[in-house]
Amino acid sequence: MAVENWTDIGSAEELAARPLSAVKAATTRLAVSCRDGVFGAVSNACNHVGGPLGEGTLDGDYVVCPWHQ
Ligand code: FES
Repeated sequence: MAVENWTDIGSAEELAARPLSAVKAATTRLAVSCRDGVFGAVSNACNHVGGPLGEGTLDGDYVVCPWHQ
């Protein structure tokens, strides 16, 4: 089976080194989290006014936006 429409966003080791990372997959900006070896991804744009979630922090299971918390 051919692998199509996949974008390499970096190595798992590199992404696991930080709780949150801002990455770009093609034209989509994502906030990638890693907590206890489990990865997650959400839009990098906060629902409030678009703050960069990948530059925020993790508080338990929650991403805290760096702009207005
Ligand atoms: S932009 Fe994220 S809390 Fe305001």
